[in-house]
Amino acid sequence: MMKDPVEQLLFALPDAMRASACKAADRVRSASKAVIASHIDADGISAAAIAGTTLARMEIDCQTMFFKKLDDAAVQSLRDADCDLVWFTDLGSGSLSKIYDLDAVITDHHAPDLRGSRARESPQSLLSDFATVVHVNPHLHGISGASDLSGAGATFLTAVATDHANADLSPLAILGSVGDLQNRKTRRLEGLNRPILRVATDLELVEAFEDIRYFGRETRPVFKMLEYSSDPFLPRIGGHEQEAISFLLGLGIELKDGESWRTWTMLSGGEKKTVIDALREHLIACRRNKATIERLVGETYSLTGERPGSPVRDMKEFATLLNACGRHGRAEIGMRICAGDRGIALAKGLSLLRDHRSALSNALELAKSRGITRMKHIQYFDAGDDIEETIVGTVAGMLLGSGGVDRTAPMIAFAESLEPGEVRMVKVSSRGTQDLISKGMDLSAAMRHVAEGVGGVGGGHNIAAGATIPFERKRDFLLLLDEVIGSQIMG
Ligand code: C5P
Ligand code: C5P
Ligand code: ZN
Repeated sequence: MMKDPVEQLLFALPDAMRASACKAADRVRSASKAVIASHIDADGISAAAIAGTTLARMEIDCQTMFFKKLDDAAVQSLRDADCDLVWFTDLGSGSLSKIYDLDAVITDHHAPDLRGSRARESPQSLLSDFATVVHVNPHLHGISGASDLSGAGATFLTAVATDHANADLSPLAILGSVGDLQNRKTRRLEGLNRPILRVATDLELVEAFEDIRYFGRETRPVFKMLEYSSDPFLPRIGGHEQEAISFLLGLGIELKDGESWRTWTMLSGGEKKTVIDALREHLIACRRNKATIERLVGETYSLTGERPGSPVRDMKEFATLLNACGRHGRAEIGMRICAGDRGIALAKGLSLLRDHRSALSNALELAKSRGITRMKHIQYFDAGDDIEETIVGTVAGMLLGSGGVDRTAPMIAFAESLEPGEVRMVKVSSRGTQDLISKGMDLSAAMRHVAEGVGGVGGGHNIAAGATIPFERKRDFLLLLDEVIGSQIMG
């Protein structure tokens, strides 16, 4: 007999990973008072919402704390918390050596810090090494945490291992993966994200279908969607409102329906096809290569229960809303939206989203006007204290994808960061490309190693990583990073 999608998902896990998820589930079940510790971005918020709902359904008392990173102050606040379990979601793995003695479950996808542990030789030994910590992380089983499972995904595995009835939380796992851009490389979700998606589509909570990949399918007027195009950038139309309008009118597309602007999802199937075909022709005429043109269309994900035109129907838009909350200090608002609040929390989230958009566009302009400096193997910009440290990584990623920027070197970005006690530090963000990864680049390893070499901390994923370093060591950091990235790529 065909297994149900949750069983198929658990069956798709390596045995040791399934065992860890079940062990984590046992720990969660036996808690009487828990603290969820999560990361402030879309994936972290989705993950916290999954953990929070799982605990609430078991009537386990719980409190959520969000962190930009797990520094010593964060770890101390968790040590001081009145609870018998800390459930780390979308963070923790990069800081194992700081938290190994806590009563904790970690459901994360960041590259683990396995120093001082026999786990380097065998992930199995991690269980005995860190006896008080149960660790669910794809990296321990040879699975990519950059593309095949998000923090929300790892948390979802534990939620369904606790009770199959938590299958209805699968849309939040997809939301986390989309928020972390895990569908960027192949234009669809891959790896363990696929059996999770299957759970969500089987329950008819999520619809996955081929469509245009641009941001704003549900909420932006079509001409605005094209005007703000990136990946692929539309020459002449991108950045030019009038050109975008003329392009659509030239195809016979009505821009308005009565008084309101038509969005992409309001177009008929025939109209969508007309526009996509014409965009393909446009890109061919602009001599874009096949791989670039293919990026117009990909798998998109919608929440079937949300009304058409809602800012939380398309997963890409929903994830941006969550980032707007978390990256501006209001992650708990995002968590309430994830839990279903479509009233006060959604209204507050939308107002944060407006601010987030203008912060990003100002930051992008600022970075461009400051200029990008090219070294041998890396390029960087320094935002000083003009860009918030929580969005400087997003800006670096946007720059790298914005056309006209060199894509043969990773983008490094600096922003000032005031640590507890008024200590002046620098936040570093880095973003790479698939091409560079296939040449051997690993930003997570490079950022961790170089940050530690100058008295800081760092980590993340091969394609996107971060660090915090002492202010006066910026120059040393750059020189060393240039060398390390060079040796990764050449080696
Ligand atoms: O902390 P967390 O794992 O949730 O964040 C992952 C980060 O990596 C996100 O900021 C995401 O935008 C970035 N990323 C990227 N390109 C990819 C995959 C992830 O910039 N292809
Ligand atoms: O902050 P930013 O978006 O640039 O972070 C990129 C990735 O690096 C995220 O997945 C983040 O969690 C991770 N990171 C980390 N350790 C740090 C800083 C960032 O693991 N000290
Ligand atoms: Zn994540």
